[in-house]
Amino acid sequence: MWGGRFAEGPHAIMEAINASIGFDRRLARQDVEGSRAHAAMLAAQGIITDTDAEAIREGLLTVLSEIDAGTFAFSAALEDIHMNVENRLRELIGPAAGRLHTARSRNDQVATDFRLWTREQCDAALDSIRRLQGALLAQAEAGADWVMPGFTHLQTAQPVTWGHHMLAYVEMLGRDASRFADARARMNESPLGAAALAGTSFPIDRDATAAALGFDRPCANSLDAVSDRDFALDFLGAASICAMHLSRLAEELVIWSSAQFRFVAMSDSFSTGSSIMPQKKNPDAAELIRAKIGRIFGAQSALLMVMKGLPLAYSKDMQEDKEQVFDAADTLMLALAAMTGMVADMNANRDAMRAAAGAGFSTATDLADWLVREAGLPFREAHHVTGSLVARAESKGCDLPDLTLEEMQAAHPLITGGVRDVLGVDNSVASRTSYGGTAPDNVRVQIARWKEYLA
Ligand code: ARG
Repeated sequence: MWGGRFAEGPHAIMEAINASIGFDRRLARQDVEGSRAHAAMLAAQGIITDTDAEAIREGLLTVLSEIDAGTFAFSAALEDIHMNVENRLRELIGPAAGRLHTARSRNDQVATDFRLWTREQCDAALDSIRRLQGALLAQAEAGADWVMPGFTHLQTAQPVTWGHHMLAYVEMLGRDASRFADARARMNESPLGAAALAGTSFPIDRDATAAALGFDRPCANSLDAVSDRDFALDFLGAASICAMHLSRLAEELVIWSSAQFRFVAMSDSFSTGSSIMPQKKNPDAAELIRAKIGRIFGAQSALLMVMKGLPLAYSKDMQEDKEQVFDAADTLMLALAAMTGMVADMNANRDAMRAAAGAGFSTATDLADWLVREAGLPFREAHHVTGSLVARAESKGCDLPDLTLEEMQAAHPLITGGVRDVLGVDNSVASRTSYGGTAPDNVRVQIARWKEYLA
């Protein structure tokens, strides 16, 4: 491509470090789309003839069909996807192919291709997130009023409902979806026509190519257009936070599926066995999600490191952007799909969760609240009185409802038998009717809201 200036070809090691075709072949479809838009615009502006534009259009379609059929011969000597496509086009249509690169550089070309690819991944992430939200909602609906222990510090805190816990993840994923939608909207500007860095003297129409490729508008500054990789970082940022959420859920599934918890049973199809211990059913998919998402955080750090020292405009360092984003996108889509499968298939164990919900003095706060409401105590005093009753029950080895009325009245004389009403886990969750609280009635309202939204 630059034989005019060079007397010798590259050293084999130069070729090895320089070639990106091993991975950027994934941009083939976007590259052809970008070239088709560019060629059509060049013809419309009278920069190339309609005859050449037609030959280019036909040739690019052939290239695309060869790529789709797996018959395209990628060559490392041609460095990257852009030169591979253009070279094949020349083989197919002859010298007219050489007019395609008028008023264009690989710098705006790769920025365009990669934005198109990343934009598709935002859409794919949005789809996958919605599917996972659907699976979580189905779980929430089945167990809107099932009681389980809520934890802080992984110590029993207060009873909550299974539906409420599932909905917490639906909320997180809702924010993830909005981050991908936001990243998509921000990246949807076209670099095409920025050329190498300074724009071009040809009378191009950047609005036309932007529109043909589904962009909202052209990037306003040609230097920024070719040197910007914020769109990839926005994607990795959204992916990282989403991945962090998946990892937290994976961690809970690992804990919940243990023999000590038994809150959920994973399906056979999303579990593995042990080669030595016949009883084992391991939550490998959850563990692998927890582990694999580290790749996404790594990709984000890696691309930030690539970009942080680069002067404007394009530097070859930026070729290192793609593998990070490809791997992060693949990992995220697989993790979302695996999580969706696990959540859709798993069985929540209502009885085990209920039994655990009452343990660990989980309704102590309800007792303290009762003392405030019914006996008029300041909350701090009620907290102290309840604490002494917990200590008493703990030393007796019983639960709060098992204490006698006399024992309770010894802690505070205004306690009456009515207090027992608030010591049960069902009453406890039913009473949490404040907005956003765990009461089953609240949970059902939130499920209905999300179902309507996702529909
Ligand atoms: N393969 C290159 C990349 O991925 C394309 C741009 C090359 N531009 C250049 N000036 N060498 O970044």
